[in-house]
Amino acid sequence: MKVCVFGASGYAGASIYQILQETPNTEVTGTYLEDPAVFDDLYKLDVNQPESFSEFYKQTQPDVVVWSVMSGPYEDELIQEGLSHLITHLTPQTKLVYMSSDYVFTAGNGPYNEDDPISRLPEDHVFSTYANAKVKAEHFITQELTNYAILRAGPIYGENKIGQLDDRTDKLIAQLRLGKTVAYRDDLIRTFVHVNDLAMAVAEFVKNELTGIYHAGPDKRHSFYEFMQQMAEQLGYQGELVEEASQHEEADEEIPKNTSLSTDKIKDTTKQTFR
Ligand SMILES: NC(=O)c1ccc[n+]([C@@H]2O[C@H](COP(=O)([O-])OP(=O)(O)OC[C@H]3O[C@@H](n4cnc5c(N)ncnc54)[C@H](OP(=O)(O)O)[C@@H]3O)[C@@H](O)[C@H]2O)c1
Repeated sequence: MKVCVFGASGYAGASIYQILQETPNTEVTGTYLEDPAVFDDLYKLDVNQPESFSEFYKQTQPDVVVWSVMSGPYEDELIQEGLSHLITHLTPQTKLVYMSSDYVFTAGNGPYNEDDPISRLPEDHVFSTYANAKVKAEHFITQELTNYAILRAGPIYGENKIGQLDDRTDKLIAQLRLGKTVAYRDDLIRTFVHVNDLAMAVAEFVKNELTGIYHAGPDKRHSFYEFMQQMAEQLGYQGELVEEASQHEEADEEIPKNTSLSTDKIKDTTKQTFR
């Protein structure tokens, strides 16, 4: 089976790429954008460039495509250009495994099920570019394709397969090393998922025949404060250095405080476990 991982040099993508490389009967190619790539054999490709995208895709002809691309302020372009190019190239036989986010939930309150409605943020909201692009991507995929798996995840954490940590934990360690306190919100509840468990789940959907939308992660839900305090202790620092942050920021408006995910479906339909 031929698999292509777009974003294979990224935090989650590197674990996905590494796990797929170790999977028998799987021929993996991966793309990156900015040098240096974290693996020597990745192809440099800007997914937003239609000619080079087409050329690369025609050479690769994958059976399964994994989309682990993210571009912060340019996320909308990534969907309008990159994902649209990809969708025009996919045949009904080619499966797309798309990494989505709990940011698609902007109404109601978690824990959310897979069939709960997704919605956009007002355009002037500080998170609207990313959140609305993810909503747009899911609409594109569900309207245009049948052979897809959308995996939604909350905050991804932990050491990936090449030893990189998520930015939040990196910043935590930097502060704790200096003996400084760090504050996190206790009222924002999420489903935190370990990067390598998520990557294993992606690899599972590459191999299996399952399609549709799935929430990835453990049953447990935590506030950022609880989660980061536990993280500090696991890393061997004093939990007391992690403090509760003030409970209001501009970004709160329009966003539910609890965007945790109900993950029963993935647990019931796959063998994947989440720590
Ligand atoms: N991190 C989280 O907490 C989280 C939570 C939920 C969902 N997700 C989703 O999970 C996926 C992976 O996230 P991540 O945290 O691994 O992100 P990441 O570390 O930022 O990796 C994303 C990769 O996308 C590549 N990229 C950006 N623009 C590109 C372009 N125009 N053409 C080609 N490649 C491009 C970058 O490649 P280079 O590095 O080579 O430049 C980057 O490595 C994303 O779809 C994200 O939305 C992430």
